[in-house]
Amino acid sequence: MNKNTLYLFSKVAAVMMSFYMVSCGSKSQSPGVEYMPDMYRTPALEPYSGNTNYADSMEARKPAEGSIARGYLPYGIPNSTEGYEMAGTLLKNPLPPNEDVLADGKVIYTKYCVHCHGVEGAGDGPTVTAGGHPPPPAYNSASLKNLPEGKMFHTITYGKNLMGAHSSQLNAEERWTVIRYVQTLQNPDGDASTESVSDSTATEGDSMSDETAMNN
Ligand code: HEC
Repeated sequence: MNKNTLYLFSKVAAVMMSFYMVSCGSKSQSPGVEYMPDMYRTPALEPYSGNTNYADSMEARKPAEGSIARGYLPYGIPNSTEGYEMAGTLLKNPLPPNEDVLADGKVIYTKYCVHCHGVEGAGDGPTVTAGGHPPPPAYNSASLKNLPEGKMFHTITYGKNLMGAHSSQLNAEERWTVIRYVQTLQNPDGDASTESVSDSTATEGDSMSDETAMNN
């Protein structure tokens, strides 16, 4: 074997050796030899795996105090009698009482309210007729007929006596949507848009109430 053949053999052997090293192993999940594995494998920890960098060892951190989700503003009116009155004068429904809003409102009402308030809002849902729970007042009764929409929003947000809070089930827009539908039951013979027309004139330029209304 002359020098040249030997040289060629050693070259071929080196190439075959490197093929062997980088080719797949017997484990089908193994990626074989990795060059700089840190570049492929993130050092990030699993959310609940624990983290020794923090005194409480919790990897899933809470948002910084005072953080607010994008597009969300907290409902600034307190859950109190004064807050209820304040909501009644300050808050105005930002949604028009058009066909689409009323149709959506009916869907929400049928899912979340009808079992207590009844189909016509007379306070005769199945929790009352079949379950024996005390009836809510009818929407068109003397006590609720003229209830301002801001008070409705407040009650749906926080709940009132036997009615639970609905802010975890319905976002602010959904609450205003169902209020539009409730107003048709509150005033079955009337025009649901009457209040909103006078309201929109009354609140023109009053951006605070609109903002508060939409973002809770
Ligand atoms: C568990 C039964 C129940 C459910 C569900 C329920 N309500 Fe009520 N609701 C009541 C009762 C009871 C009252 C009377 C509260 C009071 O004044 O003591 C009431 C009162 C109200 C009032 C009058 C509020 C006020 O400020 O006087 C409105 C408006 C209203 N509900 C709307 C709704 C809407 C809209 C839904 C669905 C999103 C809903 N309710 C779901 C039981 C319920």
